[in-house]
Amino acid sequence: MFTQPIPTIKRDGNTAVILDQTLLPHRCEVRRLTTLDEVATAIHAMQVRGAPLIGATAAFGVAIALVADASDAQLEHALTALAATRPTAVNLHWALGRMAGRLRPLAPADRLDAAWREAEAIRRNDAEMCAAIGRHGYAILERLATGLDRPLRVMTHCNAGWLATCGAGTALAPVYEAQARGLPVEVWVSETRPRNQGLLTAWELREARVPLRLIADNAAGILIARGDVDVVITGADRVAANGDAANKVGTYLKALAAREHGVPFYIAAPFSTVDFACADGAAIPIEDRGAGEVCTVLGLADDGAVRSLRLAPESTAAANPAFDVTPARCISGIITERGICEPARLRDLYPEAQA
Ligand code: MRU
Repeated sequence: MFTQPIPTIKRDGNTAVILDQTLLPHRCEVRRLTTLDEVATAIHAMQVRGAPLIGATAAFGVAIALVADASDAQLEHALTALAATRPTAVNLHWALGRMAGRLRPLAPADRLDAAWREAEAIRRNDAEMCAAIGRHGYAILERLATGLDRPLRVMTHCNAGWLATCGAGTALAPVYEAQARGLPVEVWVSETRPRNQGLLTAWELREARVPLRLIADNAAGILIARGDVDVVITGADRVAANGDAANKVGTYLKALAAREHGVPFYIAAPFSTVDFACADGAAIPIEDRGAGEVCTVLGLADDGAVRSLRLAPESTAAANPAFDVTPARCISGIITERGICEPARLRDLYPEAQA
């Protein structure tokens, strides 16, 4: 199974150690989280990011919150505080629901050990789900590559690689699987303004020696239109019951272009990203992160520090919806840990799931 070059999150005693993604791709630094507040800030400020990793971090946060006080009141406080950190990725609520279900019935004295065990299980399960998504997604890449005398050209958006999960990633898991099995692939990576998660994708692919080309977000249309893309695969932050999928803003435009030009468009997402309680995409809450991120950019200064630079004057009006919804009709299939399905047939894969 894929081993993360640096664990995105790991337990160390009664603390968690994360890779601080706000400094990447310029600096690779870890950060220790020791309090509930630090965990909530790490999620909100995107020191950790990506739907599956947000969920796992929240689970570790519950354990950390119980270290000094495992009372009912403290457990409920931790669950509420962590649930409020980011609105769109449903993995956050899935993980907190798992923690609540395991811990609420226990006596306070039994909760801390159980919390760490459950958080570890969530981390491990996520890595397993990524691996299975990689195997199923690889079958698609292998089929599309049949008869080609050049590498298969995959386009992705945002970062849905190992940095966004506890394993190989979601959208990038099939790419890593292809690399491991010797199938030549090349990845188009869009920068993903305003937070530039594409730079994280470029970084992790380059470290793994997977050929990639970084593009400005606006270049995706011309590349798809002129036949330079064989398949688009992105992750998701929440998939509704009808197969509509919310992912990083910009995904929808890629899906539209792919549909117009007959290029297959897949969403790769584990069960923890599926929300059967959301009937369709209109019910998915879309995070608005405020004007600041649009008017500034983080970069490496000459003195080696990672700094925020101002792009637009402070008083510039701006809007910053962080996600968009790709309608099920634009999605060729959803790659899950249980296999690939048409968006509208998601429920067939999870018959045990409640609405
Ligand atoms: O705002 P972010 O960086 O947390 O958003 C991440 C994404 O949109 C990813 O594409 C998604 O979470 C899938 S992660 C495997």
